[in-house]
Amino acid sequence: MADKVIAVDDLSEDEARAELERLAAEIARHDALYHGKDRPDISDAEYDALKRRNDDIEARFPMLVRTDSPSVRVGAAPAGVFSQVTHARPMLSLDNTFSDEDVQDFVASVYRFLGQFPDGSIAFTAEPKIDGLSMSIRYENRRLVTAATRGDGTTGENVTANILTIKEIPTELPADAPDIVEVRGEVYMAKSDFFALNAQMEAEGKQTYVNPRNTAAGSLRQLDPKVTASRKLKFFAYAWGEMADMPADTQWGMVEVFKRWGFPVNPLTRRLTSVENIISHYREIGLKRADLDYDIDGVVYKVDRLDLQARLGFRSRSPRWATAHKFPAEQAFTKVEAIDIQVGRTGALTPVARLEPITVGGVVVTNATLHNADYIEGIGNGGERIRPEGHDIREGDTVIVQRAGDVIPQILDVVLEKRPVEAVKYAFRTTCPVCGSHAVRERNEKTGKLDSVTRCTGGFVCSAQAKEHLKHFVSRNAFDIEGLGMKQVDFFFDNEDPALMIRTAADIFTLKRRQEQSLTKLENIEGFGRVSVRKLYEAIDARREIALNRFIFALGIRHVGETTAKLLAKTYGSYKNFAEAMRAAEAKFGEAWNELNGIDGIGEVVAASIVEFFKETRNLDVVNRLLDEVTPLDAEAASTGNSPVTGKTVVFTGSLERFTRDEAKARAESLGAKVAGSVSKKTDYVVAGPGAGSKLDKARELGVTVMSEDDWLEFIGS
Ligand code: IVH
Repeated sequence: MADKVIAVDDLSEDEARAELERLAAEIARHDALYHGKDRPDISDAEYDALKRRNDDIEARFPMLVRTDSPSVRVGAAPAGVFSQVTHARPMLSLDNTFSDEDVQDFVASVYRFLGQFPDGSIAFTAEPKIDGLSMSIRYENRRLVTAATRGDGTTGENVTANILTIKEIPTELPADAPDIVEVRGEVYMAKSDFFALNAQMEAEGKQTYVNPRNTAAGSLRQLDPKVTASRKLKFFAYAWGEMADMPADTQWGMVEVFKRWGFPVNPLTRRLTSVENIISHYREIGLKRADLDYDIDGVVYKVDRLDLQARLGFRSRSPRWATAHKFPAEQAFTKVEAIDIQVGRTGALTPVARLEPITVGGVVVTNATLHNADYIEGIGNGGERIRPEGHDIREGDTVIVQRAGDVIPQILDVVLEKRPVEAVKYAFRTTCPVCGSHAVRERNEKTGKLDSVTRCTGGFVCSAQAKEHLKHFVSRNAFDIEGLGMKQVDFFFDNEDPALMIRTAADIFTLKRRQEQSLTKLENIEGFGRVSVRKLYEAIDARREIALNRFIFALGIRHVGETTAKLLAKTYGSYKNFAEAMRAAEAKFGEAWNELNGIDGIGEVVAASIVEFFKETRNLDVVNRLLDEVTPLDAEAASTGNSPVTGKTVVFTGSLERFTRDEAKARAESLGAKVAGSVSKKTDYVVAGPGAGSKLDKARELGVTVMSEDDWLEFIGS
């Protein structure tokens, strides 16, 4: 909002007109942020407030409604907000090299192309490859006239107003500069500024940014240069486009000129001749990488002499005279600040390394999973030593972190030389950090070995487990309630206000009712707002009826994933049947127990876990309260309702000759049959191939219809 907000009723017509103009621009900017790649930088509530103010002013001054008013326009990003700039010279990209051999080849190819003997007479510059955005800045008669992004290399976006906010970039060049100058280089955000910005976002409860590069890109695409100005972008000059006159005849010389003209240039730039020196400079930069205040992803080598560059020329999109030597996959050194314990839905205590923030492959890493007590020790699942030398991990250790794709970062190794003298072996806790209950490692009954997981024994008493249950409950493959993500669950779970708190699944569905009777309104709370609250209630109501398999999955029964939940839904058909059968299955090896175990894909451990869940009265309380609010829909019998095997239970036994077992099962299921793994009174058909044994005997004993594979195929009409 403006510094001084005038009440709508007090606005003069002129003030109202100006205010509507401001609101239209500001709301459009937020729409663009919301719909574009970048994250919104205000809360829903703030956004709602802007819209409300716009509506209120329009209600008072209907004649002032703008054609581009946010009340008229649908919230889509205006396409091509920035005007286009055609580059006077195309902005090219670089070839990549990955190994020392590639670098040797590159150098050799330069000599070969020029028809020269590789005698070390050609000099190369070597400088960090900055992970930012390339920018072309044009000066006419020594005044900055345009700044453009690379775009597709031929045409970019005109971001002049935003570039003018970067103090490091001179707006005027000295008198000896040529009449036309295009300086090219990289706009970037310093890591320290990025971390500070994220800390601020976090303090304000806003979403944090992913990495400095994306943040820099987003900052440049702001329609309001004031926002760009607040983001503290920086610049390194390293190349050029059109030049009325060349002020130097080498790459090195050009960079020196840029420096003299007032541009920042990278201090790690060197001029070298031998491949050995080039590679050793690359290694040196690699070692410094983590300590630099900006992200780099390699080292760029360029032939120094511009006349040689001109002779070497270009391939289609990249110069023959340059290459980027990339750093290997996404590893970095950082420090383990602490080892924290997280308590999961099933009570598993998972140790997490809190790392000194570091960007690995362009993404900020602050945590790495440590899996379990053995892993911290340096011992793998099979009892083997892990990490190259099996070092244990301690608080205070310097470690090598690797991030592969989007998976959780891992600690590859410990740098023992950097271990502080006071660092002690990590002692895994024996109590839950959240509820104080005993935390134990179960012993595997069969192998007699200790389980790798240490588990809190607190169950629902443990608020961490309860909260994780809730997060599981709303997750994508469970209830999938839009607007109720992890952050919101944290908020509602931690809230003490009876009109706001959500401690178990049922509370989600009573929220609206509790809100209607309360004075603490959700929409007045930072991060919510009128529109998002309405949408949240709609999303909640949309789940008052839900498929049985999703419902079962959402219960968060240990070992019951989506597939098992589907099997259960299909087998039991309705929640009532399922719950009754599970209670009946308490009597081990009775009929209900056998039926549960007979489901193909459900083994004894899973079966026991489900029965255990239904034995626990606290679980039943939670589920029954939920059932007051939500109706699980009976599982659809089958897609083909009129097949002769719809709803029937089939057991395949012996070897099948016309199909694999999986195929036969899939086919039967597609016709609506349930495929079981063992024969019981509930079995309708047993399809027996050669070599069938005890299951066939049992079928005969129980009088179940037995068919050959051919009979079966005929029966189902294949
Ligand atoms: S030279 C004709 N030098 O890398 C070659 N590029 O993959 C002009 N980059 O789009 C580029 N640091 O954004 C050069 N020191 C550096 C660089 C650098 C980063 C980026 C630049 C370019 C991309 C090419």
